[in-house]
Amino acid sequence: MKKVLLIGGAGFIGLNICKHLGEKGGYKITILDNFFRGKKDEVLTGLVNKYDIEVLTGDCTSPEAYLQLEKDFDQVYMLASVVGVEYTQKIPEELIRINTALIFNTLEWLKTASVGKVVFTSTSECYAGTVEQFDYTVPTPEEVPLCIDDIKHPRFTYAVTKMLGESGFIQYSNAYGFECTIVRYHNVYGPRMGFKHVIPQVVQRFLAKEDPFKLYGHDQTRSFNYIDDAVSGTVLAMETENTNGEIFHIGDDVAEITIGELVQYMGTLMNFEGTYENVEAHSGSVSRRCPDVSKARNVLSYSPKMDWKDGVKSTVNWYVDYLKSGKDVFE
Ligand SMILES: NC(=O)c1ccc[n+]([C@@H]2O[C@H](COP(=O)([O-])OP(=O)(O)OC[C@H]3O[C@@H](n4cnc5c(N)ncnc54)[C@H](O)[C@@H]3O)[C@@H](O)[C@H]2O)c1
Repeated sequence: MKKVLLIGGAGFIGLNICKHLGEKGGYKITILDNFFRGKKDEVLTGLVNKYDIEVLTGDCTSPEAYLQLEKDFDQVYMLASVVGVEYTQKIPEELIRINTALIFNTLEWLKTASVGKVVFTSTSECYAGTVEQFDYTVPTPEEVPLCIDDIKHPRFTYAVTKMLGESGFIQYSNAYGFECTIVRYHNVYGPRMGFKHVIPQVVQRFLAKEDPFKLYGHDQTRSFNYIDDAVSGTVLAMETENTNGEIFHIGDDVAEITIGELVQYMGTLMNFEGTYENVEAHSGSVSRRCPDVSKARNVLSYSPKMDWKDGVKSTVNWYVDYLKSGKDVFE
């Protein structure tokens, strides 16, 4: 049995990694989370019981959270973070404190623990400024220089902390003898992703009968990465040998679509018969985003499979059912 720790493992991506590893078999899984965003719902309880997962509650901004952990793990997935544009706007100073502290405390714990390999989860936001300001290649490969568009803008606090993480995990792994690989995600989506992402927010607005329906940043492009594909890329990054110190762009390079296309397709799914109105994008929002995933395809044999229309349809259906059942909106 491989011993696996998922820090921030109760969240959207973390719990799906747990499910994947549980189904695969051969893993003893531990989750450490403070349930800031992760939910102790029936999905988590079901997986915990089915795969005998250990769940530890702890706030990783405090070094004490790590005292409850065993000292040795074969694999550590570092997923804990405050995520979402809304938080960068509402509590940028807290986001800096929390994300910096939980990265630093994890690195300091790794110094004393005996860990085989860590995967640190980063983001395309780290290079958004390079694309925006310097017209860098899209689809974008891993060697893109990282850049902050406007250091004063709260939106970029998240990217600043992820850059710290990328550098920190690589330097600590070199110095303290554990392996480390970085994955940069690109718009991961799917059922149970919370309500801070574009798809659930658009579903809520359609249900609230917004008309004319505002298309913020209608001509901006994104490529959406279905959760099962993101999980497969992440686990491959962990399990593939000779990937120490490497960075991989995990995303979908097949369908770069405009926000207008996405929302209007969702409107069709939700039988919207009103009109659309194009509106300027929120400030700091990048105009184009699509990863070049050839490195992940070649080195990891990563191969995203979900067609965007099928993925969006299953996600919309999940959210409509969830909201119509009268359950609470969750972070
Ligand atoms: N979802 C995406 O599209 C996306 C894109 C780029 C990068 N990422 C990165 O992937 C990782 C996972 O993302 P996600 O979508 O699952 O987010 P998520 O918010 O669902 O999961 C993050 C988890 O971290 C936990 N957490 C936050 N603060 C903590 C603290 N102080 N102590 C312990 N746990 C804490 C939360 O409770 C949550 O369970 C994050 O690091 C995120 O930055 C995600």
